[in-house]
Amino acid sequence: MLYCNLFSYLHTNFTYCRYGDIFKSHILGCPCVMISSPEAAKTVLVSRAHLFKPTYPPSKEMMIGPEAIFFHQGDYHSRLKKLVQASFLPSAIRGSVTEIEQIVLKFLPNWKNKTINTLEEMKKFSFDVAMLSSLGGWDLEMEGIKHLYHCLEKGYNSMPLNLPGTPFRKAMKARKLLNETLRRMIEKRRESNKKGGGLLGVLIGSKDQKLNHLSDSQVADNIIGVIFAAHDTTASVLTWILKYLHDNKELLAEVTVILFSEEDWLWFPLISP
Ligand code: HEM
Repeated sequence: MLYCNLFSYLHTNFTYCRYGDIFKSHILGCPCVMISSPEAAKTVLVSRAHLFKPTYPPSKEMMIGPEAIFFHQGDYHSRLKKLVQASFLPSAIRGSVTEIEQIVLKFLPNWKNKTINTLEEMKKFSFDVAMLSSLGGWDLEMEGIKHLYHCLEKGYNSMPLNLPGTPFRKAMKARKLLNETLRRMIEKRRESNKKGGGLLGVLIGSKDQKLNHLSDSQVADNIIGVIFAAHDTTASVLTWILKYLHDNKELLAEVTVILFSEEDWLWFPLISP
């Protein structure tokens, strides 16, 4: 179930208490059926999956970009899926390990001897890694992209009210500027004939069977989409990993031995003994 902001949290909880674990709502700006029981989820995702077509509310499509992988099926979807998977294979990301290590080293002093909000810190960390893997290295435009992305993220789960001052309106403004920044980067890479690294390089360099390139908006929407897909999900998994390692000292000791054994050391150069 989606808890967007205080309003929708209260609305959802109120409706849940009143109607149970399946009810109708317009909370996302379109007719929705909210489900929150494992049985209902299994029906939608497994036993009756053929009756449902995966789609997202129009407001999400506007924010991420209509040409992103999530909103498509068929050939275009398969083409993008292959490209995204190829750029996140271990062989493709092995070359970024040193740069990821630099990101970890940048964060470590901020975590020493103080209480931190683990999820928030993991979000900062996974965002930097997502930017690195999507854009393939640091660029002058990065700080601007980071700022705009955070504005977009703040409005992502808000009510889609396009009125002055609403988080949705601010997010849509940030989305427009983000698009302009990404298009500038794409144009620079196309003009210099250097497609560059990261997913951006893979998308710019891709040609289909008829040798057609992806358009600038297809590239930009998918870069924003993948940063969205990779960011909170990874931060949340890292937070749970840290929690379970913290709560289970034996497991922590075993993982530490594996990481620091000589043979595996080659595969985990991220962690210094
Ligand atoms: C542990 C972290 C992650 C979790 C739990 C997670 C979870 C998910 C889930 C549940 C879906 C929807 C699948 C579906 O509708 O069939 C999805 C789709 C997707 N995820 Fe992740 N994800 C994670 C990390 C990432 C990362 C790091 C990337 C970066 C490449 C990524 C890229 C995508 C893409 C591109 C899709 C759309 C796939 C499609 O439409 O075929 N995800 N993810």
